[in-house]
Amino acid sequence: MLLAGSDAGRNGGASLPWTAGAAVPTVVFVARIRGREGAPVTLAHFTAIFMGYADAAMPRKVEASRRLQKRAEQMIPGGVNSPVRAFHSVGGDPPFIVRGQGSHLWDADENKYIDYVGSWGPLILGHAAPGVPEAVSAAAKKGTSFGASTPAEADLAEIVISAFPHVEKVRFVSSGTEATMSAIRLARAYTKRKYIMKFEGCYHGHADALLVKAGSGVATLGIPGSAGVPEEFTSLTLALPFNDTDALEQAFKKFEHQIACVIVEPVVGNMGCVPPAPLYLDALREITLRGGALLIFDEVMTGFRLAFGGAQERYGILPDLTTFGKIIGGGLPVGAYGGPREIMNMVAPLGPVYQAGTLSGNPLAMAAGLATLRYLRSHKSTIYADLDKLSSELTEGVMAAARNAGVPICCNRVGSMFTWFFTPGPVTDWTSAAKCDTEAFGRFFRAMLDNSIYLPPSQFEAAFLSAAHTERDVEQTIAAARQAFATVGCGIGL
Ligand SMILES: Cc1ncc(COP(=O)(O)O)c(C=O)c1O
Repeated sequence: MLLAGSDAGRNGGASLPWTAGAAVPTVVFVARIRGREGAPVTLAHFTAIFMGYADAAMPRKVEASRRLQKRAEQMIPGGVNSPVRAFHSVGGDPPFIVRGQGSHLWDADENKYIDYVGSWGPLILGHAAPGVPEAVSAAAKKGTSFGASTPAEADLAEIVISAFPHVEKVRFVSSGTEATMSAIRLARAYTKRKYIMKFEGCYHGHADALLVKAGSGVATLGIPGSAGVPEEFTSLTLALPFNDTDALEQAFKKFEHQIACVIVEPVVGNMGCVPPAPLYLDALREITLRGGALLIFDEVMTGFRLAFGGAQERYGILPDLTTFGKIIGGGLPVGAYGGPREIMNMVAPLGPVYQAGTLSGNPLAMAAGLATLRYLRSHKSTIYADLDKLSSELTEGVMAAARNAGVPICCNRVGSMFTWFFTPGPVTDWTSAAKCDTEAFGRFFRAMLDNSIYLPPSQFEAAFLSAAHTERDVEQTIAAARQAFATVGCGIGL
């Protein structure tokens, strides 16, 4: 637990009547077993109980979630409002979530999970973090939306600008997709050039021009792009391998004076976590400057996650434009893009680049973002180092479990973003990520879920640790992984 605040409160009142290592009262676990009648209890579950992880030990019930999924499927494509949530690449029943508190989630069947999805990144402080629901509810009581400016918008802008030195002005939108789409429009207008460059396996939202060799759900579903996007719409998008400086040099030669911008996830999260090779971001900066193209860091995932000033602070590189999302909304829908005054002043109403939004700068979203960023700012001297340490214990513990079980996987981690790849690796780009045994990952994923560990339901998504996770969560997760590797033969070739 890295967060200040009441531990009991953050466990949401869930019963954790003993601490790790303390003797487990027999009467308690007998009662728990009776409480989940009908589900098979295996030797592994008893082992977990005796290790002090009673909540992890019980088989998962799925009846209510299954019923809710069937109902949703009648009305919503796949029953979901974002594709990866349907679990199609990993199999099994997606849990319908009814509550989150700290590092934990509860589903409609009353299963409790340790959550490493964190709403796909926004929840760096955990679920219902102290101060965030209160700020949202206080804002809601004053009215939910005005379609006019509110003081909180400049408050949030001030924090973003203070954290990202090249950002002098910022525009808020409602999603990461809008942020990247708008930043690209701005880059094209500013440079008066047409081509844009992205990298295979990077995902920048679902705007037409960016659905080329995209990561995230596109990679998870194994599709090259998207139906409904005419070739003409992507003919100005160049997709290059990530971490390949030569390919970059060659493309800049071939398309000399034509490339408006290069957009990159400085640490990729959307083919799983893939860090930049040493000096790769420096090369990107140098080549774009030389070629007269803008460099856009898509920090929708990494902003305020890898450091308060995002990946650009961590790696010491200043891009021309930065896109934000996820954490800046504290779990509510917010995106943003920002950069130097000279470029941002081209956005309407000051300039000719049109971009607008009915709910942009929404007061509830601003309140959640402010509560989150203020907390991060006042704890930044410790919170990122603590996240790094606990994430390292977790990833190394799981890797040790894999090695002991003879399962040849590899792991990439930067700060509190990480992925266990089901390939011996190393994973440095989309070609190497695509070598993963996704069937084996699916078996591992399902075994972990059955052991109360909620990982991203795709091999090609990063997992996240939050400031609400505890040493006990990590120990429980490593124990679950040990059991998953040993009991489901989820290793490659096993
Ligand atoms: C790096 C990156 N950019 C953009 C997006 C799109 O954001 P949103 O889903 O809010 O539209 C995502 C979403 O995961 C992302 O990870």
